[in-house]
Amino acid sequence: MASVVFLVAPGGSLKGEIRVPGDKSISHRSIMLGAIAEGVTKVRGFLEAEDALATLAAFRAMGVKIERSENGELTIYGVGKRGLVGAKESLYLGNSGTSMRLLSGLLAGQKFSSVLTGDDSLSKRPMTRVTDPLALMGAVIGTTENGTAPLYIEDMPSLKGISYEMPMASAQVKSCLLLAGLYAEGETCVTEPAPTRDHTERMLEGFGYSVKREGGQVCLTGGGELKGTEIDVPADISSAAFFMVGASIAKDSDVLLKHVGINPTRTGVIDILKLMGADITLSNEQVVGGEPVADIRIRSAELKGINIPEELVPLAIDEFPVLFVAAACAKGQTVLTGAEELRVKESDRIQAMADGLEQLGIDAKATVDGMIIQGAEEGLSAGKVDSHGDHRIAMAFSIAALRAKGNIEIDDCENVNTSFPEFIELAASLGLMVKVSTDG
Ligand code: S3P
Repeated sequence: MASVVFLVAPGGSLKGEIRVPGDKSISHRSIMLGAIAEGVTKVRGFLEAEDALATLAAFRAMGVKIERSENGELTIYGVGKRGLVGAKESLYLGNSGTSMRLLSGLLAGQKFSSVLTGDDSLSKRPMTRVTDPLALMGAVIGTTENGTAPLYIEDMPSLKGISYEMPMASAQVKSCLLLAGLYAEGETCVTEPAPTRDHTERMLEGFGYSVKREGGQVCLTGGGELKGTEIDVPADISSAAFFMVGASIAKDSDVLLKHVGINPTRTGVIDILKLMGADITLSNEQVVGGEPVADIRIRSAELKGINIPEELVPLAIDEFPVLFVAAACAKGQTVLTGAEELRVKESDRIQAMADGLEQLGIDAKATVDGMIIQGAEEGLSAGKVDSHGDHRIAMAFSIAALRAKGNIEIDDCENVNTSFPEFIELAASLGLMVKVSTDG
């Protein structure tokens, strides 16, 4: 198959004002909860990218009418909690771990069976982290012998609530169990070892469903109903992160990112960059539909290496590829620990980033649960790197070119479309010198 290649010329600055596309996590959840609510849900700012569209297509296949206009506006005609119908074929969820893990919970208690499939990357990712606790609730879900997709979910009219302590900090596992809990008898409680994104909890409340939260525990009681609502999806902080790092490391840069979601379970990237010495200011802070948003201004700064506090890891979990680039351009050593989850993302992000950085002349050592990076203030060398089909790795290495001594060529970039199809256009509008070609 032809591969999309990004070729990025070295240097330059980032300047200007942009709004990056809608938050991926919130977009997925808006479809899922809108579909099973009573009445109509209107969504603004929906992320029109492959992952969120895979969730949309799955619900259409289960009989939900969803109207989509060109500018990210959706109207979802909710069918109520028991109104979904079994899809005629298996539900193909592409590259999207969030679609598969959250849907497995939502579909575990339906009166019809379902099969969930994904692309090569998704078919390698661990699914027993959701199927094991779902089995404790009474669900019957088959996986491959490696515990991976396809998932075969049997019809199961009665689940029962459980109290579950998650072995890892995962918002996907927590959300999966809460969605199954909507269909379960009695109370479902999930305890997390560290705070993770809480969009499911906030959105359930927005749909009028009561959620109890205390310390690290979230509980809900099955049997209630959701009422259609209006959702305003903020710009995705995980997409904004590329330009936060880009504007920090490139000389003479000044970027304003508009209306970015700053839910405190997502702002680890801001805290980590500030610890490294970044110049970041927030303005226009407001709460929109239960989610805090702000405009974020970033100007060039001299970054320094740090030991990344482990409690920030789950709060910045998707931003490490580009944070490693920040570390590569910082003065001194950066050490990340406690981030073994990075090994089971769309790619093994520890290995893929360490290999790519080494390729670009940086001393980056992968460890079991993180990385040790020696910053090179003089920048990175020219070179060719492989994104391993991982959207965030492709975008992170594009940003690295701002401090490179020659061109950086990145292979296998088509999956940037899973989360940020406008990346090239927006990055170029700010000043990144990037070209796209198709190889093969
Ligand atoms: C997500 C949770 C995180 C994150 C993913 C989106 C979500 O995954 O990496 O991109 O929307 O709940 P984990 O729960 O596996 O950490």
